[in-house]
Amino acid sequence: MELLKKKIEAEGRVLSDAVLKVDSFLNHQIDPVLMQEIGKEFARLFKMDGVTKVLTLESSGIAPSVMTALELGVPVVFARKRKSLTLTDDLLTTTVYSFTKQESNEISVSNKFLQKSDRILVIDDFLANGQAALGLANLVEKAGAQMVGIGIVIEKSFQEGGEKLRKLGFKVESLAEIASLANGKVRFVNHRAEGMAI
Ligand code: G4P
Repeated sequence: MELLKKKIEAEGRVLSDAVLKVDSFLNHQIDPVLMQEIGKEFARLFKMDGVTKVLTLESSGIAPSVMTALELGVPVVFARKRKSLTLTDDLLTTTVYSFTKQESNEISVSNKFLQKSDRILVIDDFLANGQAALGLANLVEKAGAQMVGIGIVIEKSFQEGGEKLRKLGFKVESLAEIASLANGKVRFVNHRAEGMAI
């Protein structure tokens, strides 16, 4: 998605060989126009999959999920990382380990909002090691619902999450794929070059 790549080039800051800071439009301040375009693109990519609900993880997954769900005409459910005072219904829970933060979070969602008949599209802001997406897929499995795909705003292709999820058979669509953050520079995966005969 060209608009997103341009935004990353203009405003993304490479913090290390592994971490990209995009807090001016995705992780802290949110660019609603960009989010709307992201929502349209995910809706286009998954429109044939019969999505009945978008599932994400708080907090940065919520904005792109809402815009996607608005386009698809379905609700959004976000899994919580902290226990909520009002979330007292039967909970589906699983543990997600973050390599980036080196901590485990128990994530949970009320089983009222994930049902057997649901066809779930998981959306998240970053794909690194794939633990968040796997945790969400685990909640979907516990609910007996069906996973139809995973939409990622920024995939770091040099980390193992994308390959792991695709090998498991998930349909994964990423709007920007980063090949490398080495030497303080963002390099995107160039699919056209990949397909060219040498
Ligand atoms: P994984 O789910 O793919 O295994 O990723 P990991 O555990 O490594 O990521 C943990 C958190 O760090 C997630 O956010 C993820 O979105 C974020 N993250 C991973 N790599 C990057 C990066 O290069 N840049 C930025 N900005 N974030 C990254 P979170 O803890 O769920 O935070 P939030 O959603 O509350 O903002």
